[in-house]
Amino acid sequence: MAEDLQIAMGTKAEQYQALLPQVNALLEGEPDRVANMANMVAALKEQFKWFWVGFYIVRKDELVLGPFQGPVACTRIRKGRGVCGTSWQRAETLIVPDVEAFPGHIACSSLSKSEIVVPVLHDGTVVAVLDVDSDALDQFDKIDQQYLEEMVKLLRW
Ligand code: SME
Repeated sequence: MAEDLQIAMGTKAEQYQALLPQVNALLEGEPDRVANMANMVAALKEQFKWFWVGFYIVRKDELVLGPFQGPVACTRIRKGRGVCGTSWQRAETLIVPDVEAFPGHIACSSLSKSEIVVPVLHDGTVVAVLDVDSDALDQFDKIDQQYLEEMVKLLRW
């Protein structure tokens, strides 16, 4: 199934534009959030081959690891800590070209070099964050921000 989703290489924007309706169709009619988050990260990992793609879900005063693809990761992150906890606190997307230059970055893996974290909003409140890590520096930009923000809206939290 995931292989069927893979879209031939084009520009990054073209890949996102093709992937979005496919993920939308995949999630349509399925109300279970975990199932939908799991398929979304699988589709993103297949398409872009990033090092790590996953969700952290807000549980009380912490983020707790949710569905992900990639190596094992830290399970709990406090509000305001690391890139994920800061994205949650500010309710905004963070693009980090060099994780070592981000104060308080949480290194789940020393192989992770750059990162983007996109909050998932419901009624104006952050309910989860999507975290994408690359093993190369400076891999994320405004195009990733635009399309990943669209992507997480498909979760219809
Ligand atoms: N680097 C993240 C932690 C999550 S892992 O990279 C999967 C952070 O600083 O929030």
